[in-house]
Amino acid sequence: EKAGYEHFMLKEIHEQVSAIHNTLAGKVSELEGAIYLKELNLNDDEIKKLSRVQILACGTSWHAGLLGKYLFEQLAGIHCDIDICSEYRYRNPVMHEGTLAIAITQSGETADTLAAVREIMSYNCPTLAITNVVGSTITREANSVLYTRAGPEIGVAATKTFSTQLILLYLLAVKFALVRGKLSPDYVKSFITEIRKVPGEIQQILNQKEVIRECAENFACSKSYFFLGRHLSYPIALEGALKLKEISYVHAEGFAAGELKHGPIALLDEGAPVVAIATKGQTYEKMLSNIKEVKARDAYVIAVANINDTEIGKYADVVLRVPSCDELLAPLLSVVVLQLLAYYTALARDCAIDKPRNLAKSVTVE
Ligand code: F6R
Repeated sequence: EKAGYEHFMLKEIHEQVSAIHNTLAGKVSELEGAIYLKELNLNDDEIKKLSRVQILACGTSWHAGLLGKYLFEQLAGIHCDIDICSEYRYRNPVMHEGTLAIAITQSGETADTLAAVREIMSYNCPTLAITNVVGSTITREANSVLYTRAGPEIGVAATKTFSTQLILLYLLAVKFALVRGKLSPDYVKSFITEIRKVPGEIQQILNQKEVIRECAENFACSKSYFFLGRHLSYPIALEGALKLKEISYVHAEGFAAGELKHGPIALLDEGAPVVAIATKGQTYEKMLSNIKEVKARDAYVIAVANINDTEIGKYADVVLRVPSCDELLAPLLSVVVLQLLAYYTALARDCAIDKPRNLAKSVTVE
């Protein structure tokens, strides 16, 4: 059932092309500039009245949620908080009127996420679940459910469930922005055109995967990796580091690139691989400065950058390319590069990729 792939993880990385297509199916109209989320139990009036979104998730799903926070605030102008469920449960959160809770859980069974949802529902807060598993426990608890429709994910490391969670968060944020008059239908039309290009753009990255494999093999003996990102790429830096540590058992940390000088830069020394996500966008120049700082400590810079970026090669040691795209959607492409980097690093280190030690696909203990 691995369809010729050596591991489920590699198969599932490739399946992102069709998975994203499925997630989008029936939810967007390019012609009308409309987004349909009929499973969402909120009418336009209720969407207008929302004063806050509270996201609850763990692990990779929390990384998806962090990008969601940026999208809700930047696009829809709605205040958004995000919590790790195992913290939310115990920290006596202050409730606000007009809050929508969004629980993100691929399996729909994560014990801490279920408990956090029960906690927030005890304040009569409407809840929306984003999950991949039809009929999972969360679907019976939340008021509404949006399915990622990624198909079964067997590999313990979440890949296609992550990118499809992101797709739903983009659609929610853009829909809320449209209803609240923050984005015009014309903008939404062009957004839909762009998001529909994503599966094809991911396919282009997959076609170049040997370049990523070669890079992974060259650095596979490193003791420690650092991942840097800013703005929308920050959650992707965290996700890239998590993927690598989960399946390769190598130390990896993700940082907001601006935080580097507040401590982590002390860790850098000669030859440490630093993966810098430097796709074009509002923080591109700042990322270039960070890359220069890192180079000055003799670390190796592996940059993730756009195909048409002619400047980056002057500063980075290795450049892994993604197609040029709308800067809003670049995280969907960068993450595929980092998934492949983690996969090929684990392969070179001869690790049990689909069943990493100490990890379970669904975490039902607290
Ligand atoms: C990472 C991974 C875990 C899960 C986390 C939450 O690859 O799979 O970090 O993301 O255990 O799981 P769900 O999304 O099922 O609640």
